[in-house]
Amino acid sequence: MSSSATDCVDENAVMISDYISVQNTKKVYDKIAKNYDDFAKAANYSVPSWLRRIFPTMTFDSEEPCFLDLACGNGLLGRIAQQFFSNLDICGIDLSEKMIIEAKKRSNYKKGITYDLNNGLPINLGFFDCVIAIGLFDFFEDSRKLLTDISESLRIDGHLLCNFEASVLGMPRKAVSKVHDINRYTYSLAEVVALFNDLDFDIIEIKKQRAYTSPSTGEKIIYYLVHAKKKENKK
Ligand SMILES: C[S@@+](CC[C@H](N)C(=O)[O-])C[C@H]1O[C@@H](n2cnc3c(N)ncnc32)[C@H](O)[C@@H]1O
Repeated sequence: MSSSATDCVDENAVMISDYISVQNTKKVYDKIAKNYDDFAKAANYSVPSWLRRIFPTMTFDSEEPCFLDLACGNGLLGRIAQQFFSNLDICGIDLSEKMIIEAKKRSNYKKGITYDLNNGLPINLGFFDCVIAIGLFDFFEDSRKLLTDISESLRIDGHLLCNFEASVLGMPRKAVSKVHDINRYTYSLAEVVALFNDLDFDIIEIKKQRAYTSPSTGEKIIYYLVHAKKKENKK
């Protein structure tokens, strides 16, 4: 019997590793849900300041713009959005039930859904004015499917604010250190640009920025922060 390189890959082992990683992610974020604001502060989390610069540049037809916050955590970023858009209708989705409880309690999210986004987006098509997806694709080896779902959930001209963890020294995407036995993935700038060029988005800005200092390793984590707008469907 002949063998090929793919015969050597144990697909069950890969699936079990992904399953364990998701369970561990949930555990870690459940544990820090109540104190997430303090963690963000201690890590010098810089995404809030990026959003404070971007939000004032965004305009909407509706007086009650609909936002979807994916991997919303405890609603830290939604609270910033609420400072800029007073009648915001905001819905959050997160893997961690405890994070969702916090997001509803302290950040006034109209709806909070505990859900694993590895299963795609469970949400209306062509509905949202803005999708925020910060700290999400770090956990995704392949972001294309979810980005396609996000594109479909946005109105034409709707905004997407998201990030990808930057690969160090321009190396290609790879699984990075397994702190807490969680799979994380980095992206090169070329990969990020290629992803967006293939989908129905116009990139407004890509900014490379130190996002935070890892509380587990002390490593400085760099993000590509992306502001994109949905354009008319190419097909
Ligand atoms: C670093 S926190 C970011 C929270 C928030 N977006 C912020 O920037 O403050 C990452 C969040 O992603 C969530 N998450 C990770 N994997 C997920 C998945 N597969 N589906 C939904 N949420 C996920 C975690 O539960 C956690 O709340």
